[in-house]
Amino acid sequence: MKLSTILATGITLSCLSVNALALTIGFAQVGSESGWRTSFSESVKAEAKKRGIDLKFSDAQQKQENQIKAVRSFIAQGVDAIIIAPVVETGWKPVLREAKRARIPVVIVDRNIQVGDDSLFVTRIASDFSEEGRKAAQWLMDTTQGNCKIVELQGTVGATAAIDRAQGFNDVIGKYPNANIVRSQTGEFTRTKGKEVMESILKAENGGKGVCALWAHNDEMALGGIQAIKEAGLKPGSDILVVSVDGVPDYFKAMADGDANATVELSPHLGGPAFDVIEKYLGGDKNIPKLISTTGDLFTQDTAAAEYQKRRLQ
Ligand code: AHR
Repeated sequence: MKLSTILATGITLSCLSVNALALTIGFAQVGSESGWRTSFSESVKAEAKKRGIDLKFSDAQQKQENQIKAVRSFIAQGVDAIIIAPVVETGWKPVLREAKRARIPVVIVDRNIQVGDDSLFVTRIASDFSEEGRKAAQWLMDTTQGNCKIVELQGTVGATAAIDRAQGFNDVIGKYPNANIVRSQTGEFTRTKGKEVMESILKAENGGKGVCALWAHNDEMALGGIQAIKEAGLKPGSDILVVSVDGVPDYFKAMADGDANATVELSPHLGGPAFDVIEKYLGGDKNIPKLISTTGDLFTQDTAAAEYQKRRLQ
């Protein structure tokens, strides 16, 4: 019998540890658009294996409709809990209501959802994306004394990581009259699209002359942008500064090589916290805060080589 079925009968688990039972958990992941996302998926899979959890993993290829289908299929299979890493914020209410009716708890990880009814999910485990944008912007303003013509590669349209990082960044540069974003376009959080969009931005900006910095909403797009800057005959990291978010090993390597300047770390190790919360909840603890926050520091070139050595083997 699935744990959710046992709980529905009202049987108390007070003398039984939830993690002693074999849980079946569905995980609706965004996709594999970035190195960060792949590490996050690996963290969930590894943690599930360690805990003896039967994990049903679904890769939505960056499409919300695929995620909704996956969640419906988890409900039909009668899983004990569902983890959703949402692609975008809106459109979740109907399927979350279905999960609630089936008494299946849902944990949101990473990006946010807008449902206007917080009884539809147990908690959200996430970083403060606005703060990441503010940290990136403050580093850039300090480095350029507030004089900077910036180009921006935005993340997926409608995704919290894009909306909030842009807002946090803009809040800070808004205080500097000689800093402004001259071009901004989505690169959909991927390296390929980041490169393609950066190529067209550089063309539109007279080959990149006069552009002081590239602000990318993730490392993956920044790495694509770096490639485009090189191909345009400029030196990323000095002719055009590069600042982004994630802290993936490839980006630390780019910083160590002088091609990138700064990144705000986003921890991909979210499997442990997600399963901890599910086990607590299924064990009867209903006092779980609606937001569990993770934080990350800003890293620059000075520690990049050492950080790269540490992270490439993780
Ligand atoms: O939602 C978090 C973002 O999604 C990461 O910064 C990015 O790499 C990923 O695609």
